[in-house]
Amino acid sequence: MCSGGCAKCLGISLLPLAVLCVLANILLFFPGGKVAEDSTHISDEVWYFGGILGAGVLMIFPALVFLGLKNNDCCGCCGNKSCGERFAMFSSIIFAAIGFVGAGYCFIISAIAINKGPKCQNQSGNWTYPFNNGDYLGNSTLQQECVNPKDIIPWNLTLFLLLLLMSGVQAVLCAIQAINGLMGTLCGRCKSGCCGGDGPV
Ligand SMILES: *[C@@H]1O[C@H](CO)[C@@H](O)[C@H](O)[C@H]1NC(C)=O
Repeated sequence: MCSGGCAKCLGISLLPLAVLCVLANILLFFPGGKVAEDSTHISDEVWYFGGILGAGVLMIFPALVFLGLKNNDCCGCCGNKSCGERFAMFSSIIFAAIGFVGAGYCFIISAIAINKGPKCQNQSGNWTYPFNNGDYLGNSTLQQECVNPKDIIPWNLTLFLLLLLMSGVQAVLCAIQAINGLMGTLCGRCKSGCCGGDGPV
């Protein structure tokens, strides 16, 4: 099982994903790539800040904590020195849980947004959600129901899909670190192998 060094590479992967999620969420505030005439024209799911808060800001803390675990692998704690490193691995479980919740929030919001479809102006001129349960996906006849903003369907679909994928990866990485932190806390394997030499098995 990996340990501190592994946590570091998890942290390094989480940071750019968090930045990209924030960017994707910001782009969603510009339906079809344009400034909205009215903030009520933007889909509700964009205002839930899944990418900015969930997969973005909330992910900064776990990512930084994981980055700092580099020198706290399980060998350090089960060897002869202090068990402060053990506590560090334990606290990383809590941060992994925070990250998992943030990423999970973004994941769920994105899935709902894709299923529901964007808010747009229909052929009668009203601003509504013309679609139900993803029926617009792959039905170009139905997609013509959205008249304005232009390209709102591919715009929202692409960005929410990216958010879905990136927050899904973040959730998996946080789950890995939760297991990793648990192993590091319990120090199950330290007596054999990894404590003898230069690092984790
Ligand atoms: C697309 O939606 C229209 C309108 O609801 C429906 O009549 C048509 O059967 C759908 N086409 C496909 C391929 O599902």
